[in-house]
Amino acid sequence: MSNKIKVDLGNNSYNISLIENFKASVTKFASSTESQCMLITQEEIFNIYKNSFNELSDLANVNIFIIDQGEKAKSFETISLIVNDMARNHFDRSSLVFAVGGGVVGDVAGFAASIFMRGIKYIQYPTTLLGMVDSAIGGKTGINLQNGKNLVGRIYQPIAVEIDTNFLSTLPKREMNAALAEVVKYGFIYDKEFFEYLKTNFAQIDSKDMNVLQKIIVQCCEIKGDIVSQDENENELRMILNFGHTVGHGLESFNEYKNLLHGEAIFYGMKCALYLSNKFGKLSDKEYTSSIQFISKFDLPKLSINDKDKFINFVKNDKKFRDKKIRFILLDEIGKSRISEDISFDQIKESLSVL
Ligand SMILES: NC(=O)c1ccc[n+]([C@@H]2O[C@H](COP(=O)([O-])OP(=O)(O)OC[C@H]3O[C@@H](n4cnc5c(N)ncnc54)[C@H](O)[C@@H]3O)[C@@H](O)[C@H]2O)c1
Repeated sequence: MSNKIKVDLGNNSYNISLIENFKASVTKFASSTESQCMLITQEEIFNIYKNSFNELSDLANVNIFIIDQGEKAKSFETISLIVNDMARNHFDRSSLVFAVGGGVVGDVAGFAASIFMRGIKYIQYPTTLLGMVDSAIGGKTGINLQNGKNLVGRIYQPIAVEIDTNFLSTLPKREMNAALAEVVKYGFIYDKEFFEYLKTNFAQIDSKDMNVLQKIIVQCCEIKGDIVSQDENENELRMILNFGHTVGHGLESFNEYKNLLHGEAIFYGMKCALYLSNKFGKLSDKEYTSSIQFISKFDLPKLSINDKDKFINFVKNDKKFRDKKIRFILLDEIGKSRISEDISFDQIKESLSVL
């Protein structure tokens, strides 16, 4: 297993590396410049890894900046605080940003780096499983608006993604479990062999077996890196990463982002997408049944959709529309996906019966 994966994007190419000590990596990058650098993280993470952060803040050019927990951190207000702090501390075009956290930190830090002085370099240090397999890779950065998640942002690639899997030892089980939705998704949309591997190793995954988790992380990075390399700006292929997300995002909004983590909503969304792939597409009964059985092994909170029309209105508000047409990701078979414009809102409503 190689510990380095190249995301091939011409001049914007970078490596994803599995590392053993994030502190040593930050120190190395910080010593590569004389300019001021900013390490962006959150209080919960800071408190767990206080000793390492304190040592890093002793470096002459590393400033630690704490952002809020949760989605509320993904705001213009946070971005304004960050870039003003950079200006006050005389950051320049050679300054670096270190994003040490999950998807929230990565999205905010990447967006701030992308706009300060029209773009300074940043490095992703994902600390959640979701960050390691998904959000730190591919350069999507952004913040939320009152009317929707991730509505403002840029595609702006990091110069490196440094993955220290030791962070997973402190990640709550529910966060781990939810992130596995994106892991399973890669199997569904791109790699049948990987899907079989996940099925066979479910017990090891559930008990946080680090050897198995590292293999999975590497495989996910390879798949996402491959997809992003072929379609950085999400014109076509990259859209398959949205498998399960049309219904998933609808569920998140319907539940007002309470009681349901993103990955949990995606597990449910994938169930609906599998139903539609079987009933209105080419997915065989056999693969449909085995897929639903596998998803059902993951712990998910109870769901109640009392008003299906209200739910569908949330689906209609999602970003995955082009020219008013819904672009739904279906599986033809496990490991093979496609974009369909033939799925109707009534069919989506019908698919809720599988939940
Ligand atoms: N940019 C992308 O391509 C992309 C892709 C998927 C999701 N996202 C975004 O990612 C965000 C979700 O990311 P997430 O699931 O990582 O959630 P998160 O960033 O909110 O982190 C989850 C929680 O775990 C805590 N935490 C992080 N690392 C920890 C650790 N090692 N030990 C203990 N606690 C830790 C965090 O402080 C937070 O409270 C959403 O905003 C979503 O929109 C972005």
